[in-house]
Amino acid sequence: MTLKTLAIQIAADFQKHYGRAPRWIVAAPGRVNVIGEHTDYNDGFVLPMAIERYAIMAADAAATPGQVSIYDTHFKESATVDVSAPVTKGQPKWSNYIRGVLAGFQNRGMKIPALDVAFMSTVPLGGGLSSSAALEVCTATLLEAATGKAIDPIEKALIAQKAEHDFAGVPCGIMDQFISALGREGHLLLLDCRTRKTELVPMSDPAVALLVINTNVKHELSGGEYAERRAQCEEAAKNLGVKSLRDVTPDQLEQGKAKLSEVVYRRARHVIGEIERTTHAAEGIRASNWPSVGNLMYASHTSLRDDYEVSCAELDAVVEIAEDIGYQGGVYGCRMTGGGFGGCCVALVKADCVDAITKKIAADYKAKTGFEATIFSSRPAAGATILQQ
Ligand code: GLA
Repeated sequence: MTLKTLAIQIAADFQKHYGRAPRWIVAAPGRVNVIGEHTDYNDGFVLPMAIERYAIMAADAAATPGQVSIYDTHFKESATVDVSAPVTKGQPKWSNYIRGVLAGFQNRGMKIPALDVAFMSTVPLGGGLSSSAALEVCTATLLEAATGKAIDPIEKALIAQKAEHDFAGVPCGIMDQFISALGREGHLLLLDCRTRKTELVPMSDPAVALLVINTNVKHELSGGEYAERRAQCEEAAKNLGVKSLRDVTPDQLEQGKAKLSEVVYRRARHVIGEIERTTHAAEGIRASNWPSVGNLMYASHTSLRDDYEVSCAELDAVVEIAEDIGYQGGVYGCRMTGGGFGGCCVALVKADCVDAITKKIAADYKAKTGFEATIFSSRPAAGATILQQ
């Protein structure tokens, strides 16, 4: 569904639920990370792009003071948030992403206006495409629209990240919220997570496409494993006497190997290698050197699978199928994307082979795992937008 169609749909849903037309419509995209995995919380580089899948909200000022009502048009479920006092966690669970952002704006001294909101999302839930970041950034964008006060997009991303930490209990890095807030159509975003400096990398060569392959599996261990990986990286940095793994070169890691346990050494090796691969991939994209970018993607997957141990059988199956199709069949590279333990792979492919590759991956994945994959291609989309002010 295009963003325009989505906007029409959410306006109609708002009208149906609240009995009047909405005043504001805002949207924020999900993302796929092309390369730079588990590097953001290590002060490294990431290279994500916003995808044409969105959280979208329609809203109007509400009659009940001190209250924000939110209606989820897909699950037909409502949440009511008291904004006359500091916003706290509550039910239903999904409302915490929104509550966290409302609280973040309160902490900046903003009085939250009473609002009636309808929302929906086309970002697959829990698929590693940042459905939660899209919802958080969408909420922040709605508050900008409703108060008429734009805030710096970097600050917006940070408020959204804090919502994820404090209200959803996920100690995530900064990548997902940044790309949802700052994405630009036709571009990837090279983000230096240490300085928060961003560089737009054009990705508009019509000869190539990015395919997102959702394994449609999610292994439950993901929550605790993520925090554990973060802790192992911090341990590595501490034992090597640096602030973060960003400050360690591959040579320095080898010299300091004795100071690390075998597992922590491998975690650090992934991060340090991945930071290097990410800047090289950005160079490859700038030069339209697709075979080089593809090889870096495969190398990233191997490292995530063997050293960082965040892949799973289904993600590995997709990458193996992509490798079998190979360059001859139009695949440059493929890797798992996002936190891991299920979710999605991203593949860089020749544009005129998209249909054949999609069919082949779907059939072989089903045969290998018994699961149905969901596959789509997306051009790099724009970040959060106010569609109706
Ligand atoms: C999740 C987190 C991000 C990032 C990735 C791994 O998506 O939300 O901050 O750490 O995992 O690269």
